[in-house]
Amino acid sequence: MYREPGKSRFQLDLRRHLRSQNICNNLVHLICEIAEASKYVIHAVRTGDLGVAGTSNLYGEEQLALDVLSDRILRKRLTHSGVVCNIASEEMDEIYQAQSDGPDLYSVAYDPLDGSSLVDVNLSIGTIVSIYKGCNLFQEGRNQVAALYILYGPRVSLVYSVGNGVHEFTMNSLNEYTLSRENVTMAPCGDIYAPGGLRNKYTPGTEKFVTYLEEKGSKLRYSGGFVPDINQVLMKGKGIFFYPALKGSPKGKLRLLYELNPMAFLIEQAGGAASNGTIPILDVKPESLDHREPIYIGCAEDVQKAVEFQAACGQEC
Ligand code: AHG
Ligand code: MN
Ligand code: MN
Repeated sequence: MYREPGKSRFQLDLRRHLRSQNICNNLVHLICEIAEASKYVIHAVRTGDLGVAGTSNLYGEEQLALDVLSDRILRKRLTHSGVVCNIASEEMDEIYQAQSDGPDLYSVAYDPLDGSSLVDVNLSIGTIVSIYKGCNLFQEGRNQVAALYILYGPRVSLVYSVGNGVHEFTMNSLNEYTLSRENVTMAPCGDIYAPGGLRNKYTPGTEKFVTYLEEKGSKLRYSGGFVPDINQVLMKGKGIFFYPALKGSPKGKLRLLYELNPMAFLIEQAGGAASNGTIPILDVKPESLDHREPIYIGCAEDVQKAVEFQAACGQEC
């Protein structure tokens, strides 16, 4: 293998990188535990049965849908980490208390397997995680102390922020996450757009925004998986993803705690923006575990434009 003269083969691993971030040891431990859990999730995705929950295998044992299995993998790991009090998961109806409050404990909200309906067609999927200090999960996303996602694509990557930039790690042949990009940043505007939801259900403001994007020559790049779609915008450093309010679903589809807040934290950390069409996603106060919001997320100027189109059509939108 060609190696540039003087270039080291040393790969910076996730734990070492986290230790350089000036954060509490418990938070380092927690993120490393999530990274470990993701290795079991990817193994389940790659080798598991594609059947739905409630079916049985050859031996009469219950088989679990991959999103339920992924939830159990993560919950078990978090519960035994010793540094987590409350856990909320897209797959659970209630908050799970791993332990009561104590010093330097964290609470975690996660979507264990986002895009699980794409597994049977072998498209990219992911895990999304939001972390707060203490036991309160009903806080504005701006109070997150860390956010991350793991993308299960042709390669597995982990992208995290502890409020000090956004960093990408890629899984190597030894199943270790090693640093691939540090301090990822976004341009002010871009030429990629990833539009979620049915266009014939768009409100007039969103419809006009799409026409604006088409007329400025933006390329349609939508996979149907929130993690790969956000990863594309973030790693290319340009573009916008949106899952807007729809006629009949004024709050869109995506969930604030498990999907929107962690992605908004990461995108803002990279210099981008995320709005529900009126206010920043990170300033929305969660009202319930399954609170949904519309989202426009990506380059700051593109998001601002989306907000202006919403405002321009006022009550109609
Ligand atoms: P989940 O698989 O966790 O329920 O979420 C899927 C999400 C997200 O990945 C994607 O952006 C969106 O659903 C697409 O939804 P529709 O295809 O229903 O529009
Ligand atoms: Mn999801
Ligand atoms: Mn999910």
